[in-house]
Amino acid sequence: MTERSAKLVFWVGTVASLALFLALTLDTHRHFDALTHADRLDEAVVTGKRAFERHNCNDCHTILGFGGYYAPDLTRAYTRVGEETIRARLERPELVLASSWRKMPQQHVPAAEVTALVAFLRWVSAIENNEWPPQDSENRWKASTRRLIAGAALSPGAALVQQENCLACHALGDNVARVAPRLEWIGTRRDVAWIAAYVADPQRLAPGTSMPAYDALPAAQRQAIAEFIVSLAPNRGREP
Ligand code: HEC
Ligand code: HEC
Repeated sequence: MTERSAKLVFWVGTVASLALFLALTLDTHRHFDALTHADRLDEAVVTGKRAFERHNCNDCHTILGFGGYYAPDLTRAYTRVGEETIRARLERPELVLASSWRKMPQQHVPAAEVTALVAFLRWVSAIENNEWPPQDSENRWKASTRRLIAGAALSPGAALVQQENCLACHALGDNVARVAPRLEWIGTRRDVAWIAAYVADPQRLAPGTSMPAYDALPAAQRQAIAEFIVSLAPNRGREP
């Protein structure tokens, strides 16, 4: 590449990026009123914002990307913890946060200002800012709910296999650990009673094996695990 064409690439790239950046910034500014719900910006919200500044909440808390990182981000505090919790934090921080390792000071915020601060935080939480901050995003919440539901739908045996970390060594489905036999295969040769006994004391049934003993597991839980493993096998524990 000659110096001339390198300069051309530099200038075209810089000017094009700048133009795009300015156009997008302008476009965002055109939508500010709609994105922030400016029509809901009443006296209480303004009073709350002033109180927020007077009490230096920003020293510890971040809001809309601005402020300290010592305390939780307050951009979505209203949707995350709700009005009652916000009131309690402001009225009795020394009590409700007593067991926390980080402290919020008792600032004796007057009752009228507490109400205004709630109005301010409610208004801020409704601003459409592309799911910022990510830890409070609606989508993220939904994903964690999905995981919870998926967990709750597991059979007891499946939940135990996951919880006891059997999959650190055994393959199952998409999990491709290679230390130990794939769980789907075991039930093709072993029945429930054998597996339950083996899990309690592998050395007795297979001397010299490197499979750890789970003798601390209650018998009913080993039974549940064994039933789950056998249920995975195509021929349900009968010899092929
Ligand atoms: C000296 C630092 C500090 C100041 C100033 C401060 N806070 Fe806090 N605040 C904290 C800490 C720390 C926590 C979280 C404690 C915990 O849960 O461990 C907290 C928690 C909160 C919570 C609960 C948030 C959540 O997600 O649980 C709200 C709401 C809150 N503060 C609002 C305010 C407001 C409004 C002000 C200003 C009037 C303010 N704080 C001033 C430190 C501070
Ligand atoms: C540290 C790795 C490891 C962990 C964790 C582990 N296993 Fe194993 N497991 C093995 C190995 C290795 C074998 C194969 C031993 C052999 O062939 O002698 C095995 C074998 C087995 C067998 C017998 C397979 C057969 O047909 O001979 C069963 C059943 C079994 N494991 C179940 C479990 C269950 C249930 C858990 C969780 C509660 C678990 N394992 C956790 C390593 C592990």
